[in-house]
Amino acid sequence: MNPMPSTRRHLLKAGLAAAVTPYLASSASGRVKLITLSPGPVDLEMPVEGFISEITPVENFFVRCHTMTPKVDAATWQLEISGLVNTPLKLSLAEIKKLPKVELIGVLECAGNGRSFYKPGMPGAQWRFGSVGNAKWTGVRLREVLAKAGLKPGAAHLLLDGADVPMGKMPDFQRSLPLAKANHEDTLLAYEMNGKPLTAEHGFPIRVIAPGWAGDSWVKWLTKIELLDHEHDGFWMKTAYRHPAKHVEPGATVAPAELVPVTDINVKSVIATPGAWAKPGAVLVQGVAWSNSSPVTKVDLSADGGKTWNEAKLLGNATKYGFRRFSYQWKAAEGTHTLMARATNAAGQAQPMEPEWNPSGYLYNASQAREVVVAKTQPSAPAAKAESAAEAPAVYKQACLSCHDDHMMRQQHLTRAQWDREVTKMTGWGSEVKDDQRSALLDFLAARFGL
Ligand code: HEC
Repeated sequence: MNPMPSTRRHLLKAGLAAAVTPYLASSASGRVKLITLSPGPVDLEMPVEGFISEITPVENFFVRCHTMTPKVDAATWQLEISGLVNTPLKLSLAEIKKLPKVELIGVLECAGNGRSFYKPGMPGAQWRFGSVGNAKWTGVRLREVLAKAGLKPGAAHLLLDGADVPMGKMPDFQRSLPLAKANHEDTLLAYEMNGKPLTAEHGFPIRVIAPGWAGDSWVKWLTKIELLDHEHDGFWMKTAYRHPAKHVEPGATVAPAELVPVTDINVKSVIATPGAWAKPGAVLVQGVAWSNSSPVTKVDLSADGGKTWNEAKLLGNATKYGFRRFSYQWKAAEGTHTLMARATNAAGQAQPMEPEWNPSGYLYNASQAREVVVAKTQPSAPAAKAESAAEAPAVYKQACLSCHDDHMMRQQHLTRAQWDREVTKMTGWGSEVKDDQRSALLDFLAARFGL
Protein backbone atom coordinates (compact mmCIF):
# COMPACT_ATOMS: atom_id res chain seq x y z
CA MET A 1 0.00 0.00 0.00
CA ASN A 2 1.26 3.49 -0.78
CA PRO A 3 1.16 5.98 2.06
CA MET A 4 -1.93 8.18 1.74
CA PRO A 5 -1.08 11.54 0.19
CA SER A 6 -2.28 14.53 2.18
CA THR A 7 -5.65 15.80 1.01
CA ARG A 8 -4.24 19.26 0.65
CA ARG A 9 -1.65 18.03 -1.84
CA HIS A 10 -4.26 16.02 -3.62
CA LEU A 11 -6.41 19.09 -4.05
CA LEU A 12 -3.50 20.90 -5.60
CA LYS A 13 -2.72 17.90 -7.76
CA ALA A 14 -6.33 17.81 -8.90
CA GLY A 15 -6.00 21.47 -9.82
CA LEU A 16 -2.79 20.81 -11.66
CA ALA A 17 -4.37 18.00 -13.63
CA ALA A 18 -6.97 20.48 -14.81
CA ALA A 19 -4.35 23.10 -15.51
CA VAL A 20 -2.39 20.94 -17.93
CA THR A 21 -5.52 19.92 -19.79
CA PRO A 22 -4.67 19.25 -23.43
CA TYR A 23 -8.26 19.80 -24.47
CA LEU A 24 -8.41 23.60 -24.76
CA ALA A 25 -10.42 23.73 -27.92
CA SER A 26 -13.18 26.32 -27.65
CA SER A 27 -14.18 28.22 -30.76
CA ALA A 28 -15.87 31.56 -31.37
CA SER A 29 -19.28 29.83 -31.50
CA GLY A 30 -18.83 28.72 -27.89
CA ARG A 31 -18.55 25.13 -29.03
CA VAL A 32 -16.04 23.03 -27.14
CA LYS A 33 -14.57 19.67 -28.03
CA LEU A 34 -15.96 17.04 -25.69
CA ILE A 35 -13.48 14.66 -24.08
CA THR A 36 -14.15 11.02 -25.02
CA LEU A 37 -14.01 8.75 -22.00
CA SER A 38 -15.57 5.96 -24.02
CA PRO A 39 -16.90 5.94 -27.61
CA GLY A 40 -19.29 3.02 -26.92
CA PRO A 41 -21.11 2.92 -24.55
CA VAL A 42 -20.83 6.69 -25.09
CA ASP A 43 -19.30 8.66 -22.21
CA LEU A 44 -18.32 12.23 -23.14
CA GLU A 45 -17.19 15.00 -20.82
CA MET A 46 -17.29 18.80 -21.21
CA PRO A 47 -13.87 20.45 -20.79
CA VAL A 48 -13.63 23.25 -18.21
CA GLU A 49 -13.78 26.06 -20.76
CA GLY A 50 -17.40 25.05 -21.40
CA PHE A 51 -18.35 26.38 -17.95
CA ILE A 52 -19.00 29.84 -19.36
CA SER A 53 -22.57 29.62 -20.62
CA GLU A 54 -25.56 29.65 -18.34
CA ILE A 55 -27.36 27.22 -20.64
CA THR A 56 -25.12 24.45 -21.94
CA PRO A 57 -25.60 23.96 -25.70
CA VAL A 58 -26.58 20.37 -26.52
CA GLU A 59 -23.35 19.87 -28.52
CA ASN A 60 -21.33 20.79 -25.39
CA PHE A 61 -23.44 18.69 -23.04
CA PHE A 62 -21.80 15.63 -21.43
CA VAL A 63 -23.14 12.18 -22.30
CA ARG A 64 -23.27 9.16 -20.00
CA CYS A 65 -24.54 5.80 -21.23
CA HIS A 66 -24.37 2.45 -19.50
CA THR A 67 -25.13 0.60 -22.74
CA MET A 68 -25.14 1.24 -26.48
CA THR A 69 -27.53 4.04 -27.44
CA PRO A 70 -30.86 2.52 -28.52
CA LYS A 71 -32.62 3.69 -31.68
CA VAL A 72 -36.23 4.45 -30.86
CA ASP A 73 -38.98 4.92 -33.45
CA ALA A 74 -41.23 7.71 -32.16
CA ALA A 75 -44.14 6.50 -34.26
CA THR A 76 -44.37 3.15 -32.49
CA TRP A 77 -42.89 4.15 -29.11
CA GLN A 78 -45.20 3.81 -26.11
CA LEU A 79 -44.92 4.48 -22.42
CA GLU A 80 -46.41 1.65 -20.38
CA ILE A 81 -47.74 2.39 -16.89
CA SER A 82 -48.45 -0.68 -14.80
CA GLY A 83 -48.25 -2.17 -11.31
CA LEU A 84 -50.22 -0.60 -8.44
CA VAL A 85 -52.49 1.53 -10.66
CA ASN A 86 -56.24 1.55 -11.20
CA THR A 87 -55.97 1.68 -15.00
CA PRO A 88 -52.84 0.24 -16.65
CA LEU A 89 -52.03 2.46 -19.63
CA LYS A 90 -49.99 2.62 -22.80
CA LEU A 91 -49.48 6.21 -23.91
CA SER A 92 -48.15 7.39 -27.27
CA LEU A 93 -45.91 10.41 -27.61
CA ALA A 94 -48.82 12.41 -29.04
CA GLU A 95 -50.98 11.55 -26.03
CA ILE A 96 -48.24 12.65 -23.61
CA LYS A 97 -47.75 15.90 -25.49
CA LYS A 98 -51.47 16.71 -25.02
CA LEU A 99 -50.84 17.20 -21.28
CA PRO A 100 -49.96 20.76 -20.08
CA LYS A 101 -46.50 21.76 -21.32
CA VAL A 102 -43.96 22.69 -18.63
CA GLU A 103 -40.50 24.24 -19.01
CA LEU A 104 -37.77 24.00 -16.42
CA ILE A 105 -34.13 25.06 -16.35
CA GLY A 106 -32.08 22.57 -14.45
CA VAL A 107 -28.65 21.08 -13.93
CA LEU A 108 -28.06 17.46 -14.85
CA GLU A 109 -24.98 16.11 -13.10
CA CYS A 110 -23.65 12.58 -13.17
CA ALA A 111 -23.36 11.10 -9.67
CA GLY A 112 -19.75 10.18 -10.54
CA ASN A 113 -18.67 13.67 -11.65
CA GLY A 114 -15.21 14.32 -10.13
CA ARG A 115 -14.60 10.62 -9.38
CA SER A 116 -11.06 10.80 -10.82
CA PHE A 117 -10.01 13.20 -8.03
CA TYR A 118 -10.71 10.82 -5.15
CA LYS A 119 -7.68 9.23 -3.53
CA PRO A 120 -7.53 6.28 -3.29
CA GLY A 121 -9.23 5.87 -6.66
CA MET A 122 -11.94 3.43 -7.62
CA PRO A 123 -13.17 1.86 -10.87
CA GLY A 124 -15.83 3.61 -12.94
CA ALA A 125 -15.95 6.40 -15.50
CA GLN A 126 -13.06 8.69 -14.53
CA TRP A 127 -14.88 12.02 -14.78
CA ARG A 128 -13.08 15.21 -13.88
CA PHE A 129 -15.22 18.38 -13.84
CA GLY A 130 -17.45 18.09 -16.85
CA SER A 131 -20.13 15.41 -16.44
CA VAL A 132 -22.58 18.18 -15.69
CA GLY A 133 -24.58 20.66 -17.77
CA ASN A 134 -27.57 22.98 -17.54
CA ALA A 135 -30.44 22.83 -20.02
CA LYS A 136 -33.97 24.05 -20.57
CA TRP A 137 -36.14 20.95 -20.40
CA THR A 138 -39.64 20.90 -21.90
CA GLY A 139 -42.17 18.22 -21.12
CA VAL A 140 -45.05 17.31 -18.83
CA ARG A 141 -45.31 16.79 -15.10
CA LEU A 142 -44.77 13.15 -14.19
CA ARG A 143 -47.61 13.41 -11.64
CA GLU A 144 -50.07 14.30 -14.45
CA VAL A 145 -49.16 11.09 -16.23
CA LEU A 146 -49.57 9.13 -12.98
CA ALA A 147 -52.96 10.76 -12.36
CA LYS A 148 -54.20 9.40 -15.70
CA ALA A 149 -53.56 5.85 -14.46
CA GLY A 150 -54.70 6.49 -10.87
CA LEU A 151 -52.59 5.08 -8.04
CA LYS A 152 -53.70 2.20 -5.86
CA PRO A 153 -53.12 2.37 -2.10
CA GLY A 154 -49.62 1.18 -1.23
CA ALA A 155 -47.95 2.58 -4.38
CA ALA A 156 -44.69 4.04 -3.05
CA HIS A 157 -41.96 3.75 -5.70
CA LEU A 158 -41.84 4.02 -9.49
CA LEU A 159 -39.72 1.45 -11.29
CA LEU A 160 -38.33 3.25 -14.37
CA ASP A 161 -37.05 1.35 -17.39
CA GLY A 162 -35.78 2.54 -20.75
CA ALA A 163 -35.41 1.09 -24.26
CA ASP A 164 -31.69 0.44 -23.73
CA VAL A 165 -30.67 -3.21 -24.01
CA PRO A 166 -28.11 -4.65 -21.56
CA MET A 167 -24.84 -5.98 -22.99
CA GLY A 168 -24.03 -9.62 -22.30
CA LYS A 169 -25.35 -10.61 -18.87
CA MET A 170 -25.11 -7.14 -17.32
CA PRO A 171 -28.20 -6.26 -15.29
CA ASP A 172 -30.74 -4.07 -17.12
CA PHE A 173 -30.40 -0.40 -16.16
CA GLN A 174 -33.55 0.13 -14.10
CA ARG A 175 -34.00 2.63 -11.32
CA SER A 176 -36.80 3.40 -8.91
CA LEU A 177 -37.92 6.83 -7.77
CA PRO A 178 -39.78 7.38 -4.47
CA LEU A 179 -43.36 8.58 -5.00
CA ALA A 180 -42.76 11.90 -3.19
CA LYS A 181 -40.07 12.86 -5.73
CA ALA A 182 -42.18 11.60 -8.65
CA ASN A 183 -45.15 13.68 -7.47
CA HIS A 184 -43.09 16.86 -7.02
CA GLU A 185 -44.29 19.61 -9.35
CA ASP A 186 -40.79 19.99 -10.84
CA THR A 187 -40.32 16.33 -11.75
CA LEU A 188 -40.98 16.03 -15.48
CA LEU A 189 -41.03 13.68 -18.40
CA ALA A 190 -39.16 15.78 -20.97
CA TYR A 191 -39.29 15.50 -24.75
CA GLU A 192 -37.21 18.61 -25.52
CA MET A 193 -33.79 19.87 -24.47
CA ASN A 194 -33.00 23.53 -25.22
CA GLY A 195 -36.07 23.79 -27.45
CA LYS A 196 -35.34 20.79 -29.70
CA PRO A 197 -36.42 17.13 -29.47
CA LEU A 198 -34.03 15.14 -27.28
CA THR A 199 -31.16 13.63 -29.24
CA ALA A 200 -30.72 9.84 -29.14
CA GLU A 201 -27.80 10.18 -26.71
CA HIS A 202 -29.89 12.30 -24.34
CA GLY A 203 -32.82 9.91 -24.22
CA PHE A 204 -35.09 10.39 -27.26
CA PRO A 205 -38.06 10.46 -27.18
CA ILE A 206 -38.58 10.91 -23.39
CA ARG A 207 -36.38 11.10 -20.34
CA VAL A 208 -37.06 11.73 -16.67
CA ILE A 209 -36.12 15.15 -15.24
CA ALA A 210 -35.49 14.86 -11.47
CA PRO A 211 -34.22 18.38 -10.64
CA GLY A 212 -31.73 18.61 -7.78
CA TRP A 213 -30.99 14.88 -7.98
CA ALA A 214 -28.04 13.18 -9.67
CA GLY A 215 -28.30 11.85 -13.22
CA ASP A 216 -28.87 8.21 -12.28
CA SER A 217 -32.52 9.08 -11.59
CA TRP A 218 -32.94 10.91 -14.94
CA VAL A 219 -33.76 7.69 -16.83
CA LYS A 220 -33.44 7.99 -20.61
CA TRP A 221 -35.44 6.39 -23.48
CA LEU A 222 -38.21 5.79 -20.94
CA THR A 223 -40.61 2.99 -21.93
CA LYS A 224 -42.01 1.70 -18.67
CA ILE A 225 -43.18 2.95 -15.27
CA GLU A 226 -44.27 0.27 -12.82
CA LEU A 227 -45.75 1.30 -9.47
CA LEU A 228 -44.27 -0.75 -6.64
CA ASP A 229 -44.83 -0.81 -2.88
CA HIS A 230 -41.06 -1.02 -2.27
CA GLU A 231 -37.78 0.32 -3.61
CA HIS A 232 -36.72 -1.70 -6.67
CA ASP A 233 -34.21 -4.38 -5.74
CA GLY A 234 -32.15 -4.57 -8.95
CA PHE A 235 -28.37 -4.04 -9.25
CA TRP A 236 -28.55 -0.32 -10.17
CA MET A 237 -30.52 0.47 -6.99
CA LYS A 238 -29.15 -2.00 -4.46
CA THR A 239 -25.46 -2.17 -5.45
CA ALA A 240 -24.65 0.79 -7.70
CA TYR A 241 -25.42 4.44 -6.92
CA ARG A 242 -25.22 4.05 -3.15
CA HIS A 243 -23.02 5.94 -0.73
CA PRO A 244 -22.51 6.12 3.05
CA ALA A 245 -23.98 9.67 3.30
CA LYS A 246 -21.68 10.28 6.27
CA HIS A 247 -17.96 10.65 6.78
CA VAL A 248 -15.84 7.55 6.24
CA GLU A 249 -12.06 7.38 6.15
CA PRO A 250 -10.63 7.35 2.61
CA GLY A 251 -10.11 3.76 1.49
CA ALA A 252 -12.42 2.31 4.17
CA THR A 253 -14.61 -0.71 3.44
CA VAL A 254 -18.23 0.17 4.10
CA ALA A 255 -20.82 -2.56 4.78
CA PRO A 256 -23.63 -2.61 2.17
CA ALA A 257 -26.20 -2.07 4.96
CA GLU A 258 -24.55 1.29 5.69
CA LEU A 259 -25.13 2.59 2.15
CA VAL A 260 -28.12 4.64 0.98
CA PRO A 261 -29.19 5.60 -2.56
CA VAL A 262 -27.66 8.72 -4.08
CA THR A 263 -30.28 11.48 -4.34
CA ASP A 264 -29.36 15.19 -4.07
CA ILE A 265 -26.33 16.62 -5.83
CA ASN A 266 -24.04 18.96 -3.89
CA VAL A 267 -23.30 22.68 -4.06
CA LYS A 268 -20.34 23.10 -6.42
CA SER A 269 -18.47 25.48 -8.74
CA VAL A 270 -16.04 25.24 -11.65
CA ILE A 271 -13.58 27.88 -12.85
CA ALA A 272 -13.67 28.14 -16.66
CA THR A 273 -11.09 30.88 -17.24
CA PRO A 274 -8.22 31.60 -17.03
CA GLY A 275 -6.60 28.38 -18.26
CA ALA A 276 -3.20 27.13 -17.12
CA TRP A 277 -1.52 30.39 -18.17
CA ALA A 278 -2.42 34.10 -17.92
CA LYS A 279 -0.57 37.35 -18.66
CA PRO A 280 0.17 39.62 -15.69
CA GLY A 281 -2.37 42.36 -14.98
CA ALA A 282 -6.18 42.25 -14.95
CA VAL A 283 -7.40 38.68 -15.43
CA LEU A 284 -11.07 37.77 -15.61
CA VAL A 285 -11.82 34.71 -13.51
CA GLN A 286 -15.16 33.25 -14.52
CA GLY A 287 -17.14 30.09 -14.22
CA VAL A 288 -20.42 28.67 -13.00
CA ALA A 289 -21.79 27.38 -9.72
CA TRP A 290 -24.77 25.15 -9.04
CA SER A 291 -26.50 23.31 -6.24
CA ASN A 292 -29.44 21.00 -5.58
CA SER A 293 -32.91 22.42 -4.86
CA SER A 294 -31.32 25.11 -2.68
CA PRO A 295 -29.98 27.75 -5.09
CA VAL A 296 -26.47 29.19 -5.04
CA THR A 297 -26.32 32.46 -3.08
CA LYS A 298 -22.60 33.20 -3.03
CA VAL A 299 -19.32 32.29 -4.71
CA ASP A 300 -16.01 33.16 -3.06
CA LEU A 301 -12.72 33.28 -4.91
CA SER A 302 -9.21 32.82 -3.60
CA ALA A 303 -6.03 33.52 -5.58
CA ASP A 304 -3.70 32.19 -2.89
CA GLY A 305 -4.76 28.57 -2.51
CA GLY A 306 -7.51 29.28 0.04
CA LYS A 307 -5.70 31.57 2.50
CA THR A 308 -7.79 34.66 1.69
CA TRP A 309 -11.15 34.92 -0.04
CA ASN A 310 -13.12 37.60 -1.92
CA GLU A 311 -16.71 37.47 -3.03
CA ALA A 312 -17.20 37.00 -6.78
CA LYS A 313 -19.96 38.77 -8.72
CA LEU A 314 -22.99 36.61 -9.54
CA LEU A 315 -24.18 37.14 -13.12
CA GLY A 316 -27.14 36.15 -15.28
CA ASN A 317 -30.35 34.64 -14.01
CA ALA A 318 -31.04 33.15 -10.60
CA THR A 319 -33.01 29.95 -11.23
CA LYS A 320 -33.91 27.35 -8.67
CA TYR A 321 -32.02 24.46 -10.25
CA GLY A 322 -29.79 26.06 -12.89
CA PHE A 323 -26.18 27.16 -13.33
CA ARG A 324 -25.28 30.56 -11.84
CA ARG A 325 -22.47 32.37 -13.61
CA PHE A 326 -19.84 34.23 -11.61
CA SER A 327 -16.90 36.49 -12.37
CA TYR A 328 -14.06 38.07 -10.47
CA GLN A 329 -11.45 40.63 -11.54
CA TRP A 330 -8.08 39.34 -10.44
CA LYS A 331 -4.96 41.49 -10.39
CA ALA A 332 -2.43 38.85 -11.32
CA ALA A 333 1.24 39.28 -10.52
CA GLU A 334 3.92 37.17 -12.16
CA GLY A 335 4.40 33.80 -10.52
CA THR A 336 2.47 30.57 -9.98
CA HIS A 337 -0.86 30.98 -8.18
CA THR A 338 -3.61 28.67 -7.04
CA LEU A 339 -7.11 29.90 -7.81
CA MET A 340 -9.97 28.40 -5.85
CA ALA A 341 -13.74 28.90 -6.04
CA ARG A 342 -16.17 28.02 -3.27
CA ALA A 343 -19.94 28.20 -3.68
CA THR A 344 -22.53 28.46 -0.90
CA ASN A 345 -26.27 27.74 -1.26
CA ALA A 346 -29.38 29.24 0.37
CA ALA A 347 -29.39 26.42 2.95
CA GLY A 348 -25.93 27.59 4.07
CA GLN A 349 -24.07 24.58 2.67
CA ALA A 350 -20.65 25.50 1.29
CA GLN A 351 -18.20 23.46 -0.75
CA PRO A 352 -15.80 21.65 1.55
CA MET A 353 -12.04 22.11 1.20
CA GLU A 354 -11.55 18.36 1.60
CA PRO A 355 -13.50 15.84 -0.53
CA GLU A 356 -15.88 13.42 1.20
CA TRP A 357 -14.40 10.13 0.02
CA ASN A 358 -16.87 7.28 -0.52
CA PRO A 359 -16.30 3.78 -1.95
CA SER A 360 -17.86 4.36 -5.41
CA GLY A 361 -16.65 7.93 -5.79
CA TYR A 362 -19.95 9.80 -5.96
CA LEU A 363 -20.94 13.45 -5.44
CA TYR A 364 -17.44 14.99 -5.38
CA ASN A 365 -17.73 18.68 -4.55
CA ALA A 366 -14.51 19.84 -2.91
CA SER A 367 -13.44 23.36 -3.78
CA GLN A 368 -11.48 23.24 -7.04
CA ALA A 369 -7.83 24.30 -6.93
CA ARG A 370 -6.59 25.62 -10.27
CA GLU A 371 -2.91 26.31 -10.69
CA VAL A 372 -2.23 29.26 -13.00
CA VAL A 373 1.16 30.36 -14.24
CA VAL A 374 1.17 34.14 -14.64
CA ALA A 375 3.94 35.10 -17.06
CA LYS A 376 4.45 37.35 -20.09
CA THR A 377 4.98 34.36 -22.36
CA GLN A 378 3.31 30.97 -22.35
CA PRO A 379 5.37 28.20 -20.70
CA SER A 380 5.78 24.98 -22.70
CA ALA A 381 3.43 22.15 -21.75
CA PRO A 382 4.87 19.36 -19.59
CA ALA A 383 5.69 16.17 -21.48
CA ALA A 384 2.99 13.51 -21.46
CA LYS A 385 3.61 10.49 -19.25
CA ALA A 386 4.96 7.56 -21.25
CA GLU A 387 2.67 4.56 -21.35
CA SER A 388 3.81 1.24 -19.99
CA ALA A 389 4.72 -1.16 -22.77
CA ALA A 390 3.28 -4.21 -21.00
CA GLU A 391 2.30 -6.75 -23.63
CA ALA A 392 -1.32 -7.88 -23.78
CA PRO A 393 -1.98 -11.61 -23.36
CA ALA A 394 -4.33 -13.14 -25.93
CA VAL A 395 -7.09 -13.45 -23.32
CA TYR A 396 -7.25 -9.64 -23.03
CA LYS A 397 -8.40 -9.22 -26.62
CA GLN A 398 -10.85 -12.11 -26.48
CA ALA A 399 -12.34 -11.50 -23.06
CA CYS A 400 -12.14 -7.74 -22.66
CA LEU A 401 -12.50 -6.07 -26.04
CA SER A 402 -15.66 -7.75 -27.31
CA CYS A 403 -18.25 -5.42 -25.74
CA HIS A 404 -16.27 -2.16 -25.50
CA ASP A 405 -12.83 -0.96 -26.53
CA ASP A 406 -9.89 -0.16 -24.25
CA HIS A 407 -11.09 3.40 -23.44
CA MET A 408 -12.82 1.75 -20.47
CA MET A 409 -9.49 0.40 -19.19
CA ARG A 410 -7.22 3.33 -20.12
CA GLN A 411 -9.06 5.79 -17.91
CA GLN A 412 -8.71 3.59 -14.79
CA HIS A 413 -5.76 3.61 -12.38
CA LEU A 414 -6.32 0.51 -10.29
CA THR A 415 -4.30 -1.84 -8.15
CA ARG A 416 -4.10 -5.54 -9.02
CA ALA A 417 -6.65 -6.27 -6.25
CA GLN A 418 -9.05 -3.69 -7.72
CA TRP A 419 -8.56 -5.17 -11.22
CA ASP A 420 -9.31 -8.58 -9.73
CA ARG A 421 -12.69 -7.32 -8.50
CA GLU A 422 -13.32 -5.58 -11.83
CA VAL A 423 -12.62 -8.79 -13.77
CA THR A 424 -15.06 -10.63 -11.46
CA LYS A 425 -17.69 -7.99 -12.25
CA MET A 426 -17.07 -8.33 -16.01
CA THR A 427 -17.05 -12.15 -16.01
CA GLY A 428 -20.36 -11.91 -14.14
CA TRP A 429 -21.58 -9.79 -17.05
CA GLY A 430 -20.47 -12.35 -19.65
CA SER A 431 -16.73 -11.92 -20.21
CA GLU A 432 -14.98 -15.31 -20.51
CA VAL A 433 -11.73 -15.68 -18.58
CA LYS A 434 -10.52 -19.21 -17.80
CA ASP A 435 -8.94 -19.85 -14.39
CA ASP A 436 -5.48 -20.48 -15.89
CA GLN A 437 -5.63 -17.19 -17.86
CA ARG A 438 -6.67 -14.96 -15.00
CA SER A 439 -3.30 -14.35 -13.39
CA ALA A 440 -1.63 -13.25 -16.66
CA LEU A 441 -4.60 -10.98 -17.40
CA LEU A 442 -4.40 -9.33 -13.97
CA ASP A 443 -0.63 -8.86 -14.27
CA PHE A 444 -1.18 -7.10 -17.58
CA LEU A 445 -4.09 -4.92 -16.39
CA ALA A 446 -2.20 -3.80 -13.26
CA ALA A 447 0.98 -3.06 -15.21
CA ARG A 448 -0.71 -1.31 -18.13
CA PHE A 449 -3.61 0.45 -16.37
CA GLY A 450 -2.29 0.59 -12.82
CA LEU A 451 -1.54 3.38 -10.37
C1 HEC B 1 -20.39 -8.65 -21.90
C2 HEC B 1 -19.85 -7.36 -22.29
C3 HEC B 1 -18.55 -6.95 -21.60
C4 HEC B 1 -17.35 -7.62 -21.60
C5 HEC B 1 -17.00 -8.91 -22.30
C6 HEC B 1 -16.43 -6.81 -20.81
N1 HEC B 1 -17.09 -5.67 -20.39
FE1 HEC B 1 -16.26 -4.18 -19.30
N2 HEC B 1 -18.04 -3.17 -19.35
C7 HEC B 1 -19.18 -3.59 -20.00
C8 HEC B 1 -20.16 -2.53 -19.95
C9 HEC B 1 -21.56 -2.57 -20.55
C10 HEC B 1 -19.57 -1.46 -19.25
C11 HEC B 1 -20.18 -0.10 -18.95
C12 HEC B 1 -20.97 -0.11 -17.73
C13 HEC B 1 -21.42 1.27 -17.34
O1 HEC B 1 -21.16 2.24 -18.03
O2 HEC B 1 -22.08 1.34 -16.31
C14 HEC B 1 -18.25 -1.91 -18.88
C15 HEC B 1 -17.38 -1.14 -18.13
C16 HEC B 1 -16.08 -1.49 -17.85
C17 HEC B 1 -15.18 -0.70 -17.05
C18 HEC B 1 -15.50 0.67 -16.42
C19 HEC B 1 -15.79 0.50 -14.96
C20 HEC B 1 -17.13 -0.14 -14.66
O3 HEC B 1 -17.13 -1.14 -13.91
O4 HEC B 1 -18.16 0.31 -15.17
C21 HEC B 1 -14.00 -1.38 -16.99
C22 HEC B 1 -12.76 -0.95 -16.27
C23 HEC B 1 -14.17 -2.59 -17.75
N3 HEC B 1 -15.44 -2.64 -18.26
C24 HEC B 1 -13.18 -3.56 -17.90
C25 HEC B 1 -13.37 -4.76 -18.57
C26 HEC B 1 -12.38 -5.82 -18.59
C27 HEC B 1 -11.03 -5.75 -17.94
C28 HEC B 1 -12.92 -6.83 -19.32
C29 HEC B 1 -12.29 -8.18 -19.59
C30 HEC B 1 -12.04 -8.99 -18.43
C31 HEC B 1 -14.26 -6.40 -19.74
N4 HEC B 1 -14.49 -5.15 -19.25
C32 HEC B 1 -15.14 -7.15 -20.52
C33 HEC B 1 -19.36 -4.78 -20.63
C34 HEC B 1 -18.38 -5.73 -20.86
